[in-house]
Formats: sequence, C-alpha cells, structure tokens
Amino acid sequence: MRIISITWLFLITILTILCIRTIPVYSICLEDKKSLLLQLKNSLKFNPAISVRLVNWTPSNGCCGWKGVTCDQAGHVLVLDLNSESIFGGVDESSSLFRLQFLECLNLANSSFIFTQIPSSFCSIISLKYLNLSNAGFFGQIPIELSLMTRLVTLDLSTLYFPGIRSLQLQNPKLSTLLQNFTGLTELRLDGVNISAKGSEWCQAISSSLPNLSFEPVQL
Ligand SMILES: *[C@@H]1O[C@H](CO)[C@@H](O)[C@H](O)[C@H]1NC(C)=O
Ligand SMILES: *[C@@H]1O[C@H](CO)[C@@H](O)[C@H](O)[C@H]1NC(C)=O
Ligand SMILES: *[C@@H]1O[C@H](CO)[C@@H](O)[C@H](O)[C@H]1NC(C)=O
Ligand SMILES: *[C@@H]1O[C@H](CO)[C@@H](O)[C@H](O)[C@H]1NC(C)=O
Ligand SMILES: *[C@@H]1O[C@H](CO)[C@@H](O)[C@H](O)[C@H]1NC(C)=O
Repeated sequence: MRIISITWLFLITILTILCIRTIPVYSICLEDKKSLLLQLKNSLKFNPAISVRLVNWTPSNGCCGWKGVTCDQAGHVLVLDLNSESIFGGVDESSSLFRLQFLECLNLANSSFIFTQIPSSFCSIISLKYLNLSNAGFFGQIPIELSLMTRLVTLDLSTLYFPGIRSLQLQNPKLSTLLQNFTGLTELRLDGVNISAKGSEWCQAISSSLPNLSFEPVQL
C-alpha cells in the first residue's frame, strides 16, 4: 500500500466567519470553564519559553481574555487556538479539554503529540465545527469515534510526510466509514495520511458522503 496524499481546498468561508466573528473579549468567564482550562494547562507539557498563550493563562484574570481563548457572551468557550504552542507529550482521553461542551473551533496544529494516537474523546466535544490537528504529531489509526462529530465543517489532519516516520492511518476504519457522517464538511485535508482506499474508492466515498465539499485533489 502506498500513501495517497490528497488535499481538498475550500471555497466556503463559513468557518472563517465562525471562528473570527467578533465576540466581546469582556464576556464573563464562567468559573467552571476557567477551572477546565486551568486543568488543561496543568495537564499539558509545553515549553514556557516558546508558548505565548498557555504560559499567560493565570487564575487571577478572566479566562475569556486569555490569549487563544474566545468565549460567547454567556461565557462559554467557543474557540481554543493553541497551535504552535510547543505542546509535547500526550493528551489524555480524560483531559478536561473534552469537557468544553460548547467549543466550536479547536486548533492544536503544529504540536508534538509524538507517538500518541488521536484520542477518541475528541468526539465528546459535540459542538465542534472546526478541528485542526495538522502536523500535531499524532500517529496511528484515526479513531472511528471522530465520525460521531457530525457538525464538523472543517477537518485538517494533514501531516508532512517523512519516509520512515509512522503516519496517521486510515485503514480500519477506512475512509468511507470515517466520512459517512460528515455531511456538512466543506474542507477536508488529509495530506500525508496513509489511506488504504484506492483512487476510485475514495472518490466514491467523498462524492456520496460529502455533498458540500469543495475540493481539489493535489496529489494522488
Ligand atoms: C501504510 O500502511 C500500511 C498498513 O499498515 C503499511 O504496510 C505501509 O507500509 C504504509 N505506507 C507507508 C508509506 O507508510
Ligand atoms: C511550529 O511551532 C514552533 C514552536 O513550537 C514555531 O517555532 C514554528 O514557527 C511553528 N511552525 C509553523 C509552521 O507554524
Ligand atoms: C490548520 O492550522 C495551521 C496552523 O495554524 C494552518 O496553517 C492551516 O491552514 C490550518 N488548516 C485549516 C484547514 O484551517
Ligand atoms: C453516524 O452517526 C450516528 C448518529 O449520530 C451514529 O449512530 C453512527 O454510529 C455514526 N456512524 C459512524 C460510522 O460512526
Ligand atoms: C449544503 O449546502 C447548502 C447550501 O449552502 C445547504 O443548504 C445544505 O444544507 C448543505 N448540506 C448539508 C448536508 O450540510
């Protein structure tokens, strides 16, 4: 089997609008959310000399004003952007991250979760619309549980491929199984993922499951 590297680019900017819409930074920080975020910070390993967001999360101020955190007016965390925060090690299935029930956008791209699998608990963030684990260091089989995230609009699991380095795999579940519930997906990036499906198979999987995907295969 060989790596089939595919990329679909998007046209629709629903996500951009969703993630960038102006939300007052003065939203009241709900204590339970603050506690979840601080638990998350304490459970993650990161380099404080490189981190610009996590390192500045301190209990003394409201969590909705923390860098990388955006809340809605009620104080629920909507966006968590922790890309390039030098996070390394793993993220636990029981991480408080997975209890941020209102989270819509999560970016953990460019981390070093080296040699750990993608936790299946991501699926418990049921409101998630944007999930970016690009170059996050995860490897191994992509968990079938991700297919329960039926509200996803953007999914980025792309990774730079280096021969000899274990990559993310889509064999069991295969591509069509993973995608079947992602009816609202408009952007999917799987560059560098080791996919067992042949060209015709993934084409079929995509056209039957993802009516709204805007895509442009880059390399087959
Ligand atoms: C893709 O996965 C298959 C099955 O695990 C493996 O045999 C193959 O070597 C992998 N391909 C690459 C390029 O890593
Ligand atoms: C990835 O994160 C590191 C910090 O860990 C940063 O120095 C680097 O510029 C980031 N790379 C990209 C492509 O964002
Ligand atoms: C994922 O995050 C990386 C780093 O922030 C960014 O370069 C990339 O464009 C993002 N992917 C999507 C689909 O937004
Ligand atoms: C698709 O979603 C339904 C309900 O949300 C779920 O019962 C089913 O297991 C999902 N399919 C897969 C392959 O996960
Ligand atoms: C696809 O997009 C159209 C137009 O934006 C929308 O009406 C429809 O609900 C979308 N379908 C799904 C399954 O999200």
